[in-house]
Amino acid sequence: MDTQSFSDASSPPSPSLSVSTLSVAATADTAPSDFGDDSSLTSPNAAVEDASYILVIGGLGYIGSHTVLELLKEGYNVVIVDDLSNSFSSVFDRINFLAAEHCQATGQRLPSLKLHCMDYRSPSLRSLLWRYRTRPNANPSDSRRSMIHGVIHFAAFKSVSESIARPLDYYQNNVGGFIDLLSTLKEFGIDGFVFSSSATVYGSVANRGIPLREEDCVHQTETYTDASGAERRTENGVRGLTSPYGRTKWMCEAILADLAASDPSWSIAALRYFNPVGCHSSGLLGEDSRQTPTNLFPIISRVLTGVKPTLDVFGTDWATSDGTAVRDFIHVVDLARGHVSALAAVAARKLASPFRTFNLGTGHGHTVQEVVDSMEHAAKRSIPVRHEGRRAGDVGSCVADVQRATSELDWRAQKSLQDCAESTWAYVSK
Ligand code: UD1
Repeated sequence: MDTQSFSDASSPPSPSLSVSTLSVAATADTAPSDFGDDSSLTSPNAAVEDASYILVIGGLGYIGSHTVLELLKEGYNVVIVDDLSNSFSSVFDRINFLAAEHCQATGQRLPSLKLHCMDYRSPSLRSLLWRYRTRPNANPSDSRRSMIHGVIHFAAFKSVSESIARPLDYYQNNVGGFIDLLSTLKEFGIDGFVFSSSATVYGSVANRGIPLREEDCVHQTETYTDASGAERRTENGVRGLTSPYGRTKWMCEAILADLAASDPSWSIAALRYFNPVGCHSSGLLGEDSRQTPTNLFPIISRVLTGVKPTLDVFGTDWATSDGTAVRDFIHVVDLARGHVSALAAVAARKLASPFRTFNLGTGHGHTVQEVVDSMEHAAKRSIPVRHEGRRAGDVGSCVADVQRATSELDWRAQKSLQDCAESTWAYVSK
């Protein structure tokens, strides 16, 4: 059984999950002929109610899990595909529990939540999409071919250092698998897509030291009016990407831009995350990677819990208020809500163009030292620090201009750096 589907809030079950190992090859017009030994797939459509669903690929990870919860709170039915390669199945129960708690408190209907443990690159995905095809005559006024009305794609490798050591794995998963995914989705009539991108696509433009606008990295040459009223022109392309990981994000964006230009029936939002940090206020969802972290907040957490003796602060000679680097730290719940806003625009076909990029940040920068201070305050413990030279590939400042997301998605971040620190400590100390 590869599917967990619950609707009873009061007794979160303990799912026993296994990875589907289906081997099927079929087109959208032909039922996959081999459903392996998974009984839930032997009868196409049998277990799927007529409804609309959002498919979240990589929905048990750090940002994915918070996004799934926000989707459920907004009333969306969610289907998660996750291979557990960098997440844990227990996250599913926690999302379900928090959604049920919310719905009980607000009197809302608890939407459906399903989990399919599979690699999104496996043939099982095709079997899954087959099950979510609209039934003939289910709703004659709706011409859509799939009950999946939007896809949010999180499943990608994300370690900068690992990408330098194993570039082919990164290109294979983040780009190769991604191209196949897009072809398969289109085959099943699914063309609403939200992509996890990163501020890393700005490359060395970030060194300019002023907030980054979406127009600073474009995939077709653009002219625009800057904050001072001057006309500017940006050539397509990018400079100064420092890792294969960063290149995969840029390549995927470029592929999506080309795809939407060739077929405007697509509705695609690429969300450029700045520095996602923090955890759900319950302390039940957080950043729980299977990999050793290299990012600032998880490393500080390791120092605070005694796993690591000191925090190495990389760079104290940047042109910033205290010499340490500046980043735009965005609370993961704000980021998750940004996905819900983007998905709504994608599904309603309200994007300004079939492919649209959005910065998801706060618009305000904080130094590494300010982060250390906020975490010391939250944990009421001191953090031993060692000052080191600059880390290779780092930029001194990276802050978002959030005008586009504010005006076009009606979204803005709400939480402060101290909220990020408090919620991180709540999760870690649990
Ligand atoms: C990093 C990735 C970026 C990715 C983002 C996702 C690199 C070069 N970039 O961004 O591609 O999209 O994470 O979250 O890794 N710092 C310390 N000590 C530490 C760890 C970090 O001083 O032990 C400093 C860094 O030098 C940097 C700041 O903290 O100045 C933020 O670092 P990090 O959390 O790794 O994020 P980014 O480098 O901004």
